[in-house]
Amino acid sequence: MHPIRRTTGSTTRPNLSTLSPHPCFMTDSSNETWTVTMVIPEESSLAAAGETHRIEVAEDETILAAGRSAGVWLPADCQQGWCTACAARLRNGEVVHPHARRYYEEDREAGYVLLCTAKPRADTTLVIDQYDDFLEFRAANDKPPGNSKLNS
Ligand code: FES
Repeated sequence: MHPIRRTTGSTTRPNLSTLSPHPCFMTDSSNETWTVTMVIPEESSLAAAGETHRIEVAEDETILAAGRSAGVWLPADCQQGWCTACAARLRNGEVVHPHARRYYEEDREAGYVLLCTAKPRADTTLVIDQYDDFLEFRAANDKPPGNSKLNS
């Protein structure tokens, strides 16, 4: 049996229908979905070399997560936009990296993409498994981890 708690006096309850939700609880109601085509080069060491996969990716979802959910094995390690293991190259379309820990303007201009943090903003085509090229690109631009990984 639960004790009965009595209160005295009156309380004024807020009219909940007139309150705005706290920003922490607000969600983006326009969660658009984009088609992402992933081309895995013939020369890739991945088991899926030579294959092309087309997946649907919501705008608040990373391409890595969506690909893996769809059963496409994609290389990755840190999953924070730091290590570059998931590097890919943009063939067309648009992606953003709002939470990448290390992603430079030069990377974006050269069309490199980190799948673990990349979110589409248009129908997009990517070439997967570009880690080696990306390391060399970073090294040539004197950005990490290029030189440290290339020289190890
Ligand atoms: S898995 Fe490390 S940068 Fe994407």
